[in-house]
Amino acid sequence: MTSPEQFTGYAAFEQQHDVFNLKAHTYIPRPFTEKDVDVRILASGICGSDVHILRSGWSQSKYPAIVGHEIVGEVVRAGSDSGHQLGDMVAFGAQCDSCGSCETCKNQLENYCRKKWTATYQGSLGKGAYTQGGYADYYRGPGRFAIKFPKGLDPVTHCSLLCGGVTVYAPLKAYGAGPGKRVGVVGIGGLGHLGLQFSKALGAETYALTHSASKEKDALALGAKKVIVTKDQKAVLAEYAGFFDIIICTSFQPNMPLSSFYLPLLKPRGNFILNGLPEEDLPPMKPQSILGKSLTGSLIGSPAEIEEMFEVAVKHGVKPWVTTYPMDKAGEAVTAMHEGKARYRFVLVPK
Ligand SMILES: NC(=O)c1ccc[n+]([C@@H]2O[C@H](COP(=O)([O-])OP(=O)(O)OC[C@H]3O[C@@H](n4cnc5c(N)ncnc54)[C@H](OP(=O)(O)O)[C@@H]3O)[C@@H](O)[C@H]2O)c1
Ligand SMILES: [Zn+2]
Ligand SMILES: [Zn+2]
Repeated sequence: MTSPEQFTGYAAFEQQHDVFNLKAHTYIPRPFTEKDVDVRILASGICGSDVHILRSGWSQSKYPAIVGHEIVGEVVRAGSDSGHQLGDMVAFGAQCDSCGSCETCKNQLENYCRKKWTATYQGSLGKGAYTQGGYADYYRGPGRFAIKFPKGLDPVTHCSLLCGGVTVYAPLKAYGAGPGKRVGVVGIGGLGHLGLQFSKALGAETYALTHSASKEKDALALGAKKVIVTKDQKAVLAEYAGFFDIIICTSFQPNMPLSSFYLPLLKPRGNFILNGLPEEDLPPMKPQSILGKSLTGSLIGSPAEIEEMFEVAVKHGVKPWVTTYPMDKAGEAVTAMHEGKARYRFVLVPK
């Protein structure tokens, strides 16, 4: 069992727009070290961030770009210092390396390391080289960020926990979602449908806030006590102003109505947590709208939080709703994702 010298993935060769054209691309991965593992990819989820990157939506991306950072695979090459063995099932999320020695890393907040935050794809490897991601046959990364994948979870069904899951789980936990708390999850997509499940698993009274009335039945099945359709914001405010302890927002809608709508829905001392990352700046807001409220954002989760999330997922049966596509149909799958068709995560599987 070993890995080939070259890996093959499905890459964008230039900025993409609304129809995603991803073509086979073979590349030589960076040199293997004893700290690394190579995994043969068994499943690779499609995250909303992949779409932004392929479109150069946040900033200019590097091309060719193989994206994908919800990776589950089997270790086919294990460095002596990687902490893994051949045949182990492991998973990589959106981050594949950090400095490991700064105060932030030592406090197990590697996802906020400022010294060496290396993204699973598009991450800098120095001298202009960069990482390629999981829409591929193999992935090479440091064993420290290859998280043991629990036996109780299925690679295809659960790979989206690696980014979509931990991105909602980590802040829900950190900001105290639990019994006696009211949590609103804005945007019922890949992240949001997991946000509903994790919020309920943590014991919070959970509400879905969606601009799609058609998702009501699903949101109830995913754990929402009630579904609030946000089309008529005035009517929602009349009923729910000052209602939530926590709002976790996974939507990336432009002109996000923070001061006029979302912040007033919070109780005093409530927390609004931004997960979704619009391609435009947030609108300006009146300073008064933040009084008594906390507005924060949250970036994925640390390896320790991924492990903890796995335990919660196994214990409470958190289960992503997925549709699979063969890996060579990656472009088609991303196009459908961009069109809002995922119910609620697309997963690429090798042919
Ligand atoms: N902070 C982090 O660490 C992190 C990690 C992963 C992803 N993200 C970001 O989180 C966002 C969501 O990712 P995802 O994978 O969950 O995407 P997704 O599956 O497309 O879900 C996004 C949801 O946002 C809602 N929405 C409201 N207005 C929208 C609009 N104008 N256009 C599109 N969607 C709108 C929709 O839900 P309703 O129909 O229910 O309104 C949609 O299902 C992305 O911006 C992604 O980059 C951030
Ligand atoms: Zn660090
Ligand atoms: Zn992601």
